[in-house]
Amino acid sequence: MINKGFNQAFLDEVLQKNDIVSVISKYITLTRRGQNYWACCPFHMEKTPSMSIKEDGQFFKCFGCGEGGNVINFIRKIEDVDFVKAVEILAKNAGMKMPEYEDTEEMRKKKEHRDRILSVLKATSEYYISNLNKVEANTHIEYIRKRGLSDEMLTKFKIGASIDFYGLIKHLRSLGFKDTEMIDSGVASRGDSGLLYDFYGGRLIFPIINGLGEVVGFSGRDLSNDPQRAKYKNTPQTLVFNKSQLIYGYHFLRELKKQKMLDTIVLVEGQMDVIACHQAGVNTAIGVMGTALTTNHARDLRYLCNDIIVCLDGDKAGEGATYKALEILKQAGMNVKVVRLTKAKDPDEYIKKFGKDAFLEELFNAGDYMEFILLDLAKKYDINNRADRNKYINEAIEYLSRLSTGYEQEIYLPVLKEIVKVPIETLRNSLSGAREEYSKVDDKEDIELKSNAYESIAKICILASLLYGKTTQILNYEDLFDENDEYRQVFTYILDKLSNNQDINVSTIYSCFDIEKDSVWDKVINYQFPNDDVFYNYLKDCEYRLRINKFNNAKQKIKSQLSITMNIDEKYECLARLKILDDQIAKMKEEMK
Ligand code: GTP
Ligand code: MN
Repeated sequence: MINKGFNQAFLDEVLQKNDIVSVISKYITLTRRGQNYWACCPFHMEKTPSMSIKEDGQFFKCFGCGEGGNVINFIRKIEDVDFVKAVEILAKNAGMKMPEYEDTEEMRKKKEHRDRILSVLKATSEYYISNLNKVEANTHIEYIRKRGLSDEMLTKFKIGASIDFYGLIKHLRSLGFKDTEMIDSGVASRGDSGLLYDFYGGRLIFPIINGLGEVVGFSGRDLSNDPQRAKYKNTPQTLVFNKSQLIYGYHFLRELKKQKMLDTIVLVEGQMDVIACHQAGVNTAIGVMGTALTTNHARDLRYLCNDIIVCLDGDKAGEGATYKALEILKQAGMNVKVVRLTKAKDPDEYIKKFGKDAFLEELFNAGDYMEFILLDLAKKYDINNRADRNKYINEAIEYLSRLSTGYEQEIYLPVLKEIVKVPIETLRNSLSGAREEYSKVDDKEDIELKSNAYESIAKICILASLLYGKTTQILNYEDLFDENDEYRQVFTYILDKLSNNQDINVSTIYSCFDIEKDSVWDKVINYQFPNDDVFYNYLKDCEYRLRINKFNNAKQKIKSQLSITMNIDEKYECLARLKILDDQIAKMKEEMK
């Protein structure tokens, strides 16, 4: 259950008082077609509507990207908020008061601890900022000036200074924070002597802020230029800080998105580069925290915007990690472009050397990601050497077959031809070979799925028929759902409602379960019924086949028992049971005629 401490009656009232059609139409344009409304899905790029909104069931489903749910799920996604916040928005919309939370003791404690940690981090950030006015921050100020950071950026990025090892500890204690709370927040460490000290002692401080605008950690830059010391020191993993999920500058993107001012994201490689970009007017620049880009990152970005320019450090291109990042973004469904700065180490240095207009020009001329990969790969090989050229073609074709659609591939073939000077037809042939190889891998995994595919289709059809009242004979099907699996869960839910004479409301189902794309619930709710003239025969056929399957499975079990038993009585018993099963099958076949 996902009702997160809300009582179900309250959630039902929220759903009732927020008609999905009127809520969604505040965000996007709906068109009525037949029974349903249709719209271009706001969760992926499209020009023709594939999102349907059902007024009677009060839920939506996009047949393009698979997103779906009730009005709460819609608000969660479009406002990028969590479940509780989405309910709050809708409750307010309907003039309802939010109930007091019914948290468990454990949840309450955990929340309290999280709040304490966030308070420590907030107080720490404020302390570091206030340090900038002290004389002890002279070195920091000098460094800031040397790097050309404007006052506006200092404020925007809440930059601060740690000026010693004990000031912070003293300050936080005076505010009533406990030593353990400081350690748990990642701002303090305990030294060998047992004394607590500032984890970022003496460094220039960049707070790391999450999507909600809360300070969750810090990155501290060393100012000593001592190669023995780490250039940057980041907060270790804490309750609120997880590097692989955080994106530096993400909260700015969310703000821009809200103001409908986000068109292209620019991904760079370090926080100084993010800041330099913002200072140059590129306020959609973001970066990951010195880790590889993950699918989590890509999903968060993709949610806000479809277009991204990856701006790589001059020295980094050609590395597997770079291609990986491009691949991850591409596979998240983004339009990916690439800029490779060759005249400078990174965006920060580029802007310093050539000015912001030159940098904007580079972004403007960003190249297509696949063209970039094809050209960049070529640098590893001597294209005039036959063996090398073939190796290159194989590698290039492998990327093409994996990363692009057939239509896109046609666009890139001429690019590849230009590089290798081999006829397009030859390249196209190798490409279709690679495509087959690639799909063969998929097929292997599919074989097992396929043997169960019919069973799954039949079960979904029966469950959908029960859900939408196309048949009421629920007990007739009970034995077909006797395994402890997702189908059984759906069946039990429907059975429970029907036997208590309760209405089944699809939008309520969405608030009771976390319904993932392509899960059994998702398929049942969005089942496309065949036309009525064939449907009832189809439903019967589904039941028939499932029963036959069941009988055959039972027969199989008995047969294997038969083949191993030495006991003559047991053998006779098996044969008798097989006979009974055969009779039942024959009878069923007769009935089906
Ligand atoms: P500056 O030298 O200050 O301009 O930083 P940069 O952003 O150009 O650094 P670089 O390209 O060397 O590194 C990119 C990112 O990797 C940085 O922004 C950091 O997040 C991270 N990073 C760099 N050095 C270290 C380090 O010593 N330790 C850790 N934990 N992260 C680092
Ligand atoms: Mn740099």
